[in-house]
This record gives sequence, C-alpha cells and structure tokens, in this order.
Amino acid sequence: MTDTQLTGPVLPADPGLDTEHVSWEDWQRSWDRQQEWYLPDREERFRVMLDVVEAVGGPAPRVLDLACGTGSISRRLLARLPGASSVGVDLDPALLAIAEGSFGADPRLTLVTADLRDPGWAAALPAGPFDAVVTATALHWLNSQDLLRLYRDLTGLLRPGGVFLNADRARQPDTPLLNALDQAQQERRQEQERSEGVLDWAQWWQAAAADPRLAAPVAARSALYRDHKDGELHPAEWHTARLVEVGFAEAGVAWRSVSDALVTAIR
Ligand SMILES: C[S@@+](CC[C@H](N)C(=O)[O-])C[C@H]1O[C@@H](n2cnc3c(N)ncnc32)[C@H](O)[C@@H]1O
Repeated sequence: MTDTQLTGPVLPADPGLDTEHVSWEDWQRSWDRQQEWYLPDREERFRVMLDVVEAVGGPAPRVLDLACGTGSISRRLLARLPGASSVGVDLDPALLAIAEGSFGADPRLTLVTADLRDPGWAAALPAGPFDAVVTATALHWLNSQDLLRLYRDLTGLLRPGGVFLNADRARQPDTPLLNALDQAQQERRQEQERSEGVLDWAQWWQAAAADPRLAAPVAARSALYRDHKDGELHPAEWHTARLVEVGFAEAGVAWRSVSDALVTAIR
C-alpha cells in the first residue's frame, strides 16, 4: 500500500451523505483526511516514525500502537514491513470498529480495548516484550500524572534497546512570534481545504453517526468521552526529560515542526 492509496477521495462535507454505501476503506481514508486537516505533516511524521521502528526492529518488529484509533500507524507499518505484527490499543469503540472492519482477519494485528488512564491497562495486552511502542496525536489527551505513569509502564513493556515514539503537539513556549505565524498559515490552509469539502472533527463524527454500522459505537464513545478534557501540552524537551527520569537510556526528537514533535526514547 502506498501513501497515495492511503489518502484517497474525501467524503462529502454533507453530514447527510449516503453512509450506507461507504466502505471501511472509505472510512479509513476519510479519517486520514480529517486528521490531515489538523496535521498537514502527518504522513511525514509516520514515515520518520517507521524509519526508526525499522532501524530498531528490522523487517519483523513486534509493535504496540497506543491509542491506535482506526489503526493508522499499524496500517502503514504492515504495508511497509509485511513481516511485522502490531497490537493496537484504544478505548473508542467506533474507531476500533473501523479498524476491525478494514483489517478484517489479518492475523498480524490484534486490537485491544483498554483505557490508558487505568493503571491496570497493560493486563489486557498479549505477552511482551515489544521492539517498539508508537503513538500519534493522542497522549495529550492524558493529564500529566497519567502520562508519567504510562511512561513508567512502557519501560516494562519494551525490550532493552527497544524504542518509544510519541508524535504529538509540542509547541515551544519560547517562540511566540513563530507560533503565531505558523498558526495563521495553518488557518489559511484550513479555510481553503474546508471550501474544498474536507470534514473537521465535529463534522466527521456527525457523518460517522449516520452510518448504521457505526451509530451505536459512536453513541457509546460520546458517552465515554463526555467529560473529556485534554491534558497539559508540554514542549518536546519536557517529554524527553521525563522519559529519561523514568528509566529510558536516552531520549531525543527524531522530527519536529513548529507545532509538533516526534519524541523518541530508547529503552
Ligand atoms: C486524534 S486520535 C489519533 C488516533 C491515531 N493514533 C491516529 O493518529 O490516527 C486520538 C486517539 O486517542 C485515543 N485515546 C484518548 N484517550 C485514550 C485513553 N485514555 N485510552 C485509550 N485511548 C485513548 C482516542 O480514542 C483516539 O483514538
């Protein structure tokens, strides 16, 4: 599967679209497009992430995909390294339903429902250790206390020499002018793309709820996340320092833009 195949046509912006004829692949592409509206560098972040996974784990790495959503990282992993296997963990029944529908019976992916805020979350996983733990655009959903506990948990799930890769929002607080320029540029791009019919987060969930196969899981996820508040956003160097404190051998930044960073830590 190539990157081009992963970014196909966009679902119409009309929330009343004919969702009965939307395939699981259409939902995958539509999710990608919606996420790219927020993160134009998303595909590049994934590519760099998988460069590191391959460098550490070779052609057949065992990977843990945290807060996997529809399995975006696992899809790219398995397309690039057919000998890999992945365990995708998430709490959202609707995104997991799309993952289940599109991966079908692929034995290389195991999906696990778990709440990363629950200190016992790892009990639901198949036996480790893993060569790599990957995650994207997700851990800012956790508060700092839960995040630090999760970082500690990961030291027990990775093999020595294994790698943790966290691609997430990470604006530097000491570059307010640069941040404002970047923000303004992103807003111009978003406005243009919206006029072309790209769905934002709220519209995408509205469209998903209109698919009879997703209506019940979307209602369940709305209840699960009703009180959701994002955790604190930290600069990349906050994460690298915390990862070393909890026991990683070293941590650095493998890729960054003005707004995002791929924090990388070796166990
Ligand atoms: C913006 S999505 C990103 C999904 C995927 N990593 C991607 O890049 O497309 C954030 C994901 O984090 C998951 N998530 C947030 N909090 C979680 C928690 N406490 N436990 C498990 N998953 C969580 C959400 O359900 C959602 O799938």
